[in-house]
Amino acid sequence: DKGGHRHFMAKEIHEQPAVIDACLSHYLDGDTVRLREGEIDFSGVDRIVMVACGTASYACHVAKYWFEQIARVPVEVDVASEFRYREPPLSDRTLAIFVSQSGETADTLAALRYASGKAQILSIVNVDTSSIARESDVALPILAGVEIGVASTKAFTCQLTVLALLALKAGADRGTLTAEDGKAHVEALRKMPALVSQALAVEDRIEDIARSLAEARDVLFLGRGAMYPLALEGALKLKEISYIHAEGYASGELKHGPIALVDESVPIIVLAPRDHLFGKTVSNMQEVMARGGRVVLISDGDGLAAESAAWRTVEMPRAPAIWAPILYAVPAQMLAYHTAIAKGTDADQPRNLAKSVTVE
Ligand code: F6R
Repeated sequence: DKGGHRHFMAKEIHEQPAVIDACLSHYLDGDTVRLREGEIDFSGVDRIVMVACGTASYACHVAKYWFEQIARVPVEVDVASEFRYREPPLSDRTLAIFVSQSGETADTLAALRYASGKAQILSIVNVDTSSIARESDVALPILAGVEIGVASTKAFTCQLTVLALLALKAGADRGTLTAEDGKAHVEALRKMPALVSQALAVEDRIEDIARSLAEARDVLFLGRGAMYPLALEGALKLKEISYIHAEGYASGELKHGPIALVDESVPIIVLAPRDHLFGKTVSNMQEVMARGGRVVLISDGDGLAAESAAWRTVEMPRAPAIWAPILYAVPAQMLAYHTAIAKGTDADQPRNLAKSVTVE
C-alpha cells in the first residue's frame, strides 16, 4: 500500500515526521536518553569505530561530527568492505557501532564478526530480528517501520535520530555536556518532526528544479561540516535512482580538483544552512558561479534568492545548525526522487540494485 503516493519512496519520504517522532519517544524519558535494550556507558570508551555501507555509512559520517563535538571522543568511520579486510586494532575500550537498515548486509555482518570479542558491539538496525541485531551486545532499533523503496530514506533519518540521542548520552556519560545544554539539545530534537514536516513543503520547488536536473549529465553536491556527508548522500541518491552521474564534495575541496568540471552544463547543489560556516560556503559558491556553474542553494533565511544570486534557491525552515542534517535529508531525497520521475526511471526498483545486499 503506497498510501496514495506514486511510489513507496515518496510515501517513505513523507512518513519521516511520524517515524522520527516515534523514534524520539522510544528513547527519551523527559530530558534523559534511556536505552531500554541494554546499557552502554560511554565513560569507559576511549574510541568509537563506526562501520556500515552506503547510506548507512553516511549516517555514521554525520554522527562523527556529533560524537566528537558533544562527547569529545575520537570517532573513525569505515565502510564495512574495507574495515573487515583491514583488520584494524580494537580494544575493550573501543565501542564498535554497526549501522544497517536490513541488519543482513553481508559486509557489515562480517565486519561485526571480526570485531566481536575484541570490542564492545552496538548495532543500530531497523529489523530487530536480523543477524546483525542478534549478534550484537546491544541492538538499538530505529523504529522506521518497513522500508520498501530500494533507496533508503526514512531509515537514514531515523538512524540519524538514534545517533543524535546516543551522542547526547555519550556527552552526559563523559561529563562533556552539561545538564542544561543536554536539555536544550533534547528540546531542539523534539522539534525536528515538526521541522521535517515543514521541509516537506519544498516539494513543488524541488520538482521544478528536478526537471532541469534531469537534463544534466553530471551533478555536484557540496556541503561543509556535518552537511558534507549529506552532500555524499544526495549524490548517491541521485545516481542510484536517476542514473545521473553525481559526486559529493566537501565545499572546501572544490578548488583542489573538482572545480575543473564546472561549466554551464553542471548543476551544483549546495547544502548550506546558515551556520558559522555559511560565509565560507558562499565564497565557494561564488567561485563556481564565476565559472558559469548553475548553483542550486538550499538554505534558510529571508531574501535567499536576492542575496545569493544563485540560479535557483530552496528555502528551508530554520533549525539548530547541529541537527540540520536530519532536515536537509528531505530536499536531497526529493531532488533524487523528482529527477527520477522527470527521467522516467523506476524510483522504487532501480536497475542492478537490491534492497538487502547479502552477498559480498
Ligand atoms: C542507498 C541504500 C544503500 C544501503 C546499503 C546498506 O539508498 O539504500 O546504500 O544503505 O546497501 O544497507 P543496510 O542499511 O541494509 O545495511
